[in-house]
Amino acid sequence: MESVKIGLLGLGTVGSGTVNVLQRNAEEIARRAGREIQIVCASARDLTRSRNCDVDTIRLTSDPMEVVCDPDVEIIVELIGGTTLALELVLKAIEQGKHVVTANKALIALHGNEIFAKASDKGVMVAFEAAVAGGIPIIKALREGLTGNQIEWLAGIINGTGNFILTEMRDKGRAFEDVLKEAQELGYAEADPTFDVEGIDAAHKLAILASIAFGIPLQFEKVFTEGIGAIGKEDVVYAEELGYRIKHLGIARKTAEGIELRVHPTLIPEKRLIANVDGVMNAVLVNADAVGPTLYYGAGAGAEPTASAVVADIVDVVRMLTSDPENRVPHLAFQSNALSDVAVLPIDEVVTAYYLRLCVEDKPGVLAEIAQLLADQQISIEALLQKEPVDGQSVVPVIILTQRAVERELNRAIYAIEKLDTVRGSVIRIRLETLK
Ligand code: HSE
Repeated sequence: MESVKIGLLGLGTVGSGTVNVLQRNAEEIARRAGREIQIVCASARDLTRSRNCDVDTIRLTSDPMEVVCDPDVEIIVELIGGTTLALELVLKAIEQGKHVVTANKALIALHGNEIFAKASDKGVMVAFEAAVAGGIPIIKALREGLTGNQIEWLAGIINGTGNFILTEMRDKGRAFEDVLKEAQELGYAEADPTFDVEGIDAAHKLAILASIAFGIPLQFEKVFTEGIGAIGKEDVVYAEELGYRIKHLGIARKTAEGIELRVHPTLIPEKRLIANVDGVMNAVLVNADAVGPTLYYGAGAGAEPTASAVVADIVDVVRMLTSDPENRVPHLAFQSNALSDVAVLPIDEVVTAYYLRLCVEDKPGVLAEIAQLLADQQISIEALLQKEPVDGQSVVPVIILTQRAVERELNRAIYAIEKLDTVRGSVIRIRLETLK
């Protein structure tokens, strides 16, 4: 049988990884797919650049549209990133009846609803396993492996760069900028690394996971997003004294009131497996009604881990080429006419527990006042830690863990606490989840 012809857009970190994996494992992949898979052409911005892969048998061009319009190509693999040119290319490929494989989480999170609608009209597949959690087959697990379940919540470390930075800062005391630079050199970070550190990349991925988990349209704009920049070294230390680790989590939870979609630093009990996921590794913990909790772990970024997911998608598409479009796995796991319009909750309405760090005057009655302001908002204290004064100063750090509370009420309490004469500066707040 004739080989399946692929057109590759982008020969950067993931593009080169994909070429290498497809070449090295060609025989095994063909045995699995039932046909040989051949990259016939590829586009790269700068054709003079040296590559980390062998491109001798691939026709190269600097014009990605030439790849998309190549009549021999059946599957377009989009690995250029971004949401402008990538969108144009993907829509053009679909219009021409070509299947698409992409690792582009921003593209899917922002334009997935439109892309999938057009793909369904044309009867083509758009596969995006590599868009979430690098090499972990989490899309396949949620969309197929857990298809008999109601998903209750999921929580994931879904940005490798951010996790790498937090781990290196905690274990080796390295400076933020220094670790970020290394993540960029290793090809983990986004073209704009603020996407990693401010949680935007994780929010893209969470929007995709939530959509597949709950059968809702993609709603990136409704994800509450907070980055890792505000985590202080002292918070890491205090959290550990209390038996917690701080991880940057993406959390999606179905409640009676609506769906929570949030990305933020989170204290989690150190004994949870996910609390021990370090470096560039990602993990997604999914709680579903029939199976209970399941945990998916693996490399969340990097050339070949991400290529592993890209190639798996290519094989999936090849296997389904001759299938009736009506009988394929739906893009967002649920049939497109069965998506639900359940509301995404604003962060004010989210219920969670909190770690609070305050700097207070060391004198009688201060803690009682703070406890009263929390009680006024029906917020109960779970644990309290008062540290020694810093370098002979008259103020002391106080750490409070609260029980679960509505964020709006916690905000009111923080506002009142910050107005006390005995409290200095802002109250640091980090959300806390037990992940039970
Ligand atoms: N910048 C992303 C990360 C790459 O660090 O996780 C993988 O999506």
